[in-house]
Amino acid sequence: MSAPPSFDFDTPVERAGTWSQRWERFRGLDAAGREILPLWVADMDFRAPPPVLEALSRRIDHGVLGYSVLPEALKEAIVGRMERLYRWQIRPDWIVMLPGVVAGLHLAVRQLTQAQDKLLLPVPVYNPFRRAAELAPRAFEAIPLACAAGTHYVLDAGRMEDAFRRGARMLMLCNPQNPGGAIYGRDELASIAALAERHDTLICSDEIHAELVLDEDRAHIPIASLSPEISRRTVTLMSPNKAFNIPGAGCAYAIIEDPDLRVAFSRELHGLVPDPGVFSYIGALAAYTEPASGSWLAGLIAYLRANRDVAEAELAQIEGLKAWHVEASCLAWIDARAWGLPDPTAHFLKHGLALSPGTQFSAPGFVRLNFGTQRARLDEALSRMREAARAR
Ligand SMILES: Cc1ncc(COP(=O)(O)O)c(C=O)c1O
Repeated sequence: MSAPPSFDFDTPVERAGTWSQRWERFRGLDAAGREILPLWVADMDFRAPPPVLEALSRRIDHGVLGYSVLPEALKEAIVGRMERLYRWQIRPDWIVMLPGVVAGLHLAVRQLTQAQDKLLLPVPVYNPFRRAAELAPRAFEAIPLACAAGTHYVLDAGRMEDAFRRGARMLMLCNPQNPGGAIYGRDELASIAALAERHDTLICSDEIHAELVLDEDRAHIPIASLSPEISRRTVTLMSPNKAFNIPGAGCAYAIIEDPDLRVAFSRELHGLVPDPGVFSYIGALAAYTEPASGSWLAGLIAYLRANRDVAEAELAQIEGLKAWHVEASCLAWIDARAWGLPDPTAHFLKHGLALSPGTQFSAPGFVRLNFGTQRARLDEALSRMREAARAR
C-alpha cells in the first residue's frame, strides 16, 4: 500500500489583498509597528484540498458560468456521507440546498415558527443564532450552558428541563458548540430528544463543525440520527465549508425528514435566498467524493489537533487566562475575566492580535482565538498573548 499523500499546512499563504474578510478588517500595524495577526472569523489560512482546486479550475476552463441545477451526484454524496460517518440513513429528497448555514438558521426560525412562538437558545452561542431570533422577531429564552470539569461546556439538564417545561416551539442547538468547541454526547442528546418529544418542540441543529472533531475518543452524533421520532421534528444544518475550508465557494444544506416541515422550510426559498452557485456545487462535490480530499481532511485534523495542544498548553501558563478544552472546531475559547479588563479584545489588539470578543457570544470577558493557521503564526500569536499578559 502506498503512503497517504502529505499536505503542506505549514507554508504561509499570503492572504492580505485577497479580499479576505478576516485579513482585511484589521489590516494595519500595532503600537510596536508589527502587522496585526487576525485570528478572529472562522475560516482557515490553508489552501483548499487539491481535488477541490482542480475541479474548480476545470470548470473555469470550460468558461460558461450560467445558472446551475443541483447535481444528483452531490445529493447522493451527502446521503452516502451521512451513512458512512454517522450511520445515519437519510433520503435524497430530505435535502434542501442552501447558500449558507446562517441563512438556514433564519429560515428555520421564520418559516417554522409563528410570531407568538418562543425559542430556546443554549448560550453562549455563535451570534447569528441570537440574531435569527431577534430579527424574525421571536421571543427566546437563553439557557446558560454548564461547565464540566472546568474545561468544556455541557448542557445543563435541570435548566433545560425547566425551560422546556415553560414551553417553546423550537430549540436552537449548536453541535459541535461554537464558541466553546464542545461536542454533545449521546446521553446529552438523548435527554434533549426526550424533552423535545415530551413537550412537542422542534429542533434546529447547526452541525457545521461536525467534521472537525479533534479528540480521538469523541465522535459527532447528529441529533436527528438518534431515532425516527427525533428525526421527524428536526432540521439539521450542515455544510462542507468549515472542514474543507471553502466558505467562499461552498454551500450548505438542511436535512429535513418530515415532508410538512420541509415544505414549510422551503416556502418561496428561491425568492428568499440565492441558489448555491456552480462553484459551490463543484467545491462540495470534490470535497465529499474525491479520496484525496479525505486524506487532506485527515491531515488537517492532525494539524489542528497539534495546534490546539500547543495553544492549550501555552495558555495554561498565562496567569489569569483559562482556555477551554476544544473537542471540535479550530476555535479556542478563552476566559480572561480574571484580568478584570473592561475589554480584553481591545487589550489584545493593542498587542497585535485581533480576536473575536466574547460579547459577540453573550460572554463578556472571554475572547475566541482561531487556531486554523500555520503553526509559526500561532506561536507568534501566543507570544503576543504572553506579552499582553505582562502589560496589563
Ligand atoms: C456554528 C456556525 N454556524 C454557521 C456558521 C457560518 O455558516 P455559513 O457561512 O455557511 O453561513 C459558522 C461560521 O463560523 C458557525 O460557526
